[in-house]
Amino acid sequence: MALQIGIIGTGWFSKVHADILSNMDGVQVAAFVGTSQEKAARAVQGYASAKAYSNTEQMLDETKPDAVYICVPPFAHGEIESQLVQRGIPFLVEKPLGTNLATPRQILHGVKKAGLMTSAGYHFRYTDAAMKAAEMLESRKIGMALGYWMGDMPQVYWWRQQEGSGGQFIEQTTHMVDLLRCLLGEVDEVYAAFAHRAMKDIHEGVTVHDVGTATLKLRSGAVATISNTCMLPESDKVGLTIYTEQGVIDIQPDKLIVKEKGRLTEIRNAANPYLRENEAFIHGLRTGDASGILSTYEDAVKTMEVTDAALRSAESGVPVKVGE
Ligand SMILES: NC(=O)c1ccc[n+]([C@@H]2O[C@H](COP(=O)([O-])OP(=O)(O)OC[C@H]3O[C@@H](n4cnc5c(N)ncnc54)[C@H](O)[C@@H]3O)[C@@H](O)[C@H]2O)c1
Repeated sequence: MALQIGIIGTGWFSKVHADILSNMDGVQVAAFVGTSQEKAARAVQGYASAKAYSNTEQMLDETKPDAVYICVPPFAHGEIESQLVQRGIPFLVEKPLGTNLATPRQILHGVKKAGLMTSAGYHFRYTDAAMKAAEMLESRKIGMALGYWMGDMPQVYWWRQQEGSGGQFIEQTTHMVDLLRCLLGEVDEVYAAFAHRAMKDIHEGVTVHDVGTATLKLRSGAVATISNTCMLPESDKVGLTIYTEQGVIDIQPDKLIVKEKGRLTEIRNAANPYLRENEAFIHGLRTGDASGILSTYEDAVKTMEVTDAALRSAESGVPVKVGE
């Protein structure tokens, strides 16, 4: 019998995952849950086996999925995960885990107690660029890193509201913070400055900062800065550049650029990181072997601790210790 997957959320990213899942052998997209029956009914179109629901509990009762994908905006996390924990249903959750730390910490407690298999949508970890960088860094001394997410403002309504998304650093730049943790290790302290420059005057209802920069002290002794803006008319640079005694390793969304010994080498990503992320989770469900899952709920909480510390530092004007 095919693995039955329930999907919560009917937006852009639910469809990205549903398309990948429905092309896998032995996997069936069993249901979509939307905020209304109409939205769910629209979402199931094109997925022959999927049923539409407007209520998570009802979907879980009737579909009895083997696992659930949670693809909802940051503000909508908490209740969904609690239900899955109570029923012992493994889940893949899109980043970030929430708009603040309180809910994820509570959910993590339940996830650990239930021994649930989880995966968090930090797909950069699954890119060829990040995997090759990890290999190279084993034989280099890391000095520092510069991360950046310089872009435009996503147009979904919740993104521009602080209580909807948590702001750019928590919602989007979290990918770079996670990549930093994955490749350079844990962060001990953050000092950040965020500001409102232009977007408040351009769009209605904008409460998120539109520029920000954070200085991070790592446990290893290395240092980093991660900056972001969402005030550009179109997307610019996104990536993490790592400086070692042998040269520069630059991870971009689609490639790795290495500058060492006077030579520049460019390696383009060949594999689809989202496919790898999904395959690792599905393999885990089938076999119980979760070793291919590169980011779990527990690990993602640690990334959220850093992005949350950055927001608290920007609000208070003083450095903040991570995890306190
Ligand atoms: N990993 C990545 O590369 C990546 C890319 C895009 C989005 N995402 C993440 O995926 C999440 C969703 O993003 P999106 O672009 O699909 O947003 P979206 O606004 O297009 O879709 C979100 C959907 O969730 C639904 N929803 C809200 N509350 C719900 C609830 N309680 N129950 C059921 N459905 C609910 C909304 O109605 C909407 O259909 C975000 O956290 C985002 O950061 C990750």
